Amino acid sequence: MLREVYDWVMSPALPLARKTGHLSEFVAIAARRRRRRADWAAHEGRTRGFVERVAATVEADGIAVILGAGHVDDIPLDALAARFEAVVLVDLAFSLATCRAAQRLGNVECWRRDVTESLDSLPEVREPEAFLDDPRVRFVASVNLLSQLGVIPTRTMADEDADTLSRRLIEAHLRWLSRFGCPVVLITDAAVEVVDRSDAVTATLDPMKGVTLPPAAETWTWDIAPRGELDRDHAIRHQVVAIEGLPCAKRN
Ligand SMILES: C[S@@+](CC[C@H](N)C(=O)[O-])C[C@H]1O[C@@H](n2cnc3c(N)ncnc32)[C@H](O)[C@@H]1O
Repeated sequence: MLREVYDWVMSPALPLARKTGHLSEFVAIAARRRRRRADWAAHEGRTRGFVERVAATVEADGIAVILGAGHVDDIPLDALAARFEAVVLVDLAFSLATCRAAQRLGNVECWRRDVTESLDSLPEVREPEAFLDDPRVRFVASVNLLSQLGVIPTRTMADEDADTLSRRLIEAHLRWLSRFGCPVVLITDAAVEVVDRSDAVTATLDPMKGVTLPPAAETWTWDIAPRGELDRDHAIRHQVVAIEGLPCAKRN
């Protein structure tokens, strides 16, 4: 608990993120990861591997932009910094460890930004424009971020309104990614499964709120909350998709 208080106070974050509850969620994710490091290792390794493989195929004489970088546990930061002239990490908040890694590498910047460009205008959802006019951008990765965009902004809303707003934030993010003229990768959970003691799926939730994603190049399971994390009888696991190239988003 003391560690969480320390992280909340010390993590460089947008002032908005302190008010909205995003920073508390950011700190909570780090605490969950400390408890579940071994369970999350395969997912983080697959994420890093996918980003690194695609990044290795693109022209490197410019900037890589990594969205949702946060604690960089799922980002191949050293490899990206070695390959590109500069790496821009984007999140509402960063851990001190991420800031230290950026400083050590020298060509990595931590940008505290709201990728929706809408947190201060909700429920109006704006079309994100950041980086689109920057000719130095060679590679963009949205990393385990998409399903999170609506979580905090909608947590006090009725289900239907919450789903509608989340869907609009997801669609705007996908439209933004599809407008970059360079290779883009998207890694996100596409289904959330509740699993009982016999390993049977008892419920499946749609974190994309009805938005159809482009075909995945790779898929894997993220054991985000094995039994014991939330309750004794159930586990939660995420089905994750890794997508390369973003045609425009469609709704079901
Ligand atoms: C599940 S975490 C991704 C994991 C992250 N790459 C890591 O290693 O910690 C989701 C990240 O999205 C960020 N995020 C959520 N909403 C955001 C927004 N509107 N703008 C920028 N970042 C946001 C959170 O702060 C968090 O760091």
